[in-house]
Amino acid sequence: MKKLFSFFVIILLLAGSEAGAQKENILPVNQLVLVVNHPGPVISKDIYGHFSEHLGACIYGGIWVGIDSKIPNTNGIRNDVINALREMKIPNLRWPGGCFADTYHWKDGIGPKEKRASIINTNWGGVTEDNSFGTHEFMKLIELLGCDAYITGNVGTGTAREMAEWIEYLTSDAVSPMTILRKQNGREDPWKVKFFGIGNENWGCGGNMTADFYSNVMRQYSTYLGDYSGNKLYKVASGPYDYNYQWTETLMKDQGTRDMFQGLSLHYYTVVDGWGFKGSATKFDEREWFETFRLNLEIEKILRGHKAIMDRYDPEKKKGLVVDEWGNWFRVEPGTNESFLYQQNSLRDAITAAINLNIFNQNADRVKVANLAQMVNVLQSVILTKDDKMVLTPTYHVFRMFKVHQEAQLLNLDLNCEDYTFGDKKIPAISASASIDKAGKIHISLANLNPHKDIIITCPIIGNNYSKVTGEILTAGEMTAFNSFEKPENVKPVSFNGCKLNGGILTITMPSKSVVVLEITK
Ligand code: AHR
Repeated sequence: MKKLFSFFVIILLLAGSEAGAQKENILPVNQLVLVVNHPGPVISKDIYGHFSEHLGACIYGGIWVGIDSKIPNTNGIRNDVINALREMKIPNLRWPGGCFADTYHWKDGIGPKEKRASIINTNWGGVTEDNSFGTHEFMKLIELLGCDAYITGNVGTGTAREMAEWIEYLTSDAVSPMTILRKQNGREDPWKVKFFGIGNENWGCGGNMTADFYSNVMRQYSTYLGDYSGNKLYKVASGPYDYNYQWTETLMKDQGTRDMFQGLSLHYYTVVDGWGFKGSATKFDEREWFETFRLNLEIEKILRGHKAIMDRYDPEKKKGLVVDEWGNWFRVEPGTNESFLYQQNSLRDAITAAINLNIFNQNADRVKVANLAQMVNVLQSVILTKDDKMVLTPTYHVFRMFKVHQEAQLLNLDLNCEDYTFGDKKIPAISASASIDKAGKIHISLANLNPHKDIIITCPIIGNNYSKVTGEILTAGEMTAFNSFEKPENVKPVSFNGCKLNGGILTITMPSKSVVVLEITK
């Protein structure tokens, strides 16, 4: 049996990448072949990044409560949220937007609180933004989380000078008006900033620019973003949305051989039946469940399209794709402000997270950063808060379970699984990816998208001997199950005993509508 599988794998390896169509014919159905002795690219930990915008209750209430709050906090930042995010091993956090970024003037958010300007948050409900959460507060959050900063600058309504000065204020140790100002505001040493976005969605809320125009402006702004005091910026050019390949083509054609940016952003939201409908986050039927995953899976095609363009201009893959906004966008919860984008989060969102993270892992050669939209109380959040209460969503649990892939090496995994059919449409029922970490432990993450059927998968492990397998599973009785403030542990991971490993063959019984992460050791 084992020899037969090795034979299949050898044929696949010899056949090369063009053999995609043949792979399904060669492998028996519900067969997954894992080759462990030829690891691929490192899965950047930054694929597991998050996004916090000045939008609804993401920053105010969700992260920032202020030092005088009764809610336990450190320098005004909620302790419960910090602890949960650390446990999830958050690698980077994007801020302050989103659309907000291209209206944000960073100098409004520094200095004594009582002197900070109040502005209108024109993108998100016209509410007053008092700027009490600004640069120092964000960098404190980054320090408490132990993660890297991803800051997005203002191209739409800002200037090259304003952006250049922000970088200087943040990262320079030299004597300059900006560093003196930072010191006056209580911060002696510069911070480190890893990622810096040159605008956001500049084809839309970031200034409605054409690709050609933005490409020029980006070059101008990028020129003045210095690397100070040992800090090295990874500059992210504002990129396309969905299938907008023309934007990628324009930027890459113009920039392929230059070093004006290191990453190209891409946004992709799953919106069931279009913006007019969107669907409810918790009251949905199987058609919407299926449609959500069908649309989630489109990102595979979208990545392929953008990667092909990038490969033409940057065959050495020096520039990364930065999927810095992704996730399910449903209708807001009844009775909440339309502009605050507050939605619940169900088992369906957990499976969405698993599908996306598996796809990002599989594309680790080009996808270097990704940020779920958004971290707290907005869209597909990992955390919901209400006053002093906090709930970890099913999506949170998937990020926590999948953290084992961070900085591990991608493993080649060939999967031929049955389809999940609904009406006249079908999608693969199983999503999967695998990696090997520095200690030699293998992790396989899987999701069964079918809400009705358990699926048994056999998986020969080729290339080395392993004998132990343990795992965790996230599932629930209902497709619509979610965690509320009353029942915060309705959907949570438990240990998984549906797999065995005998003679190098792993057998996994994937319950319907579940996410599983396995650890395999010698
Ligand atoms: O995440 C919400 C919004 O979606 C962001 O502000 C914007 O970049 C995108 O259109």
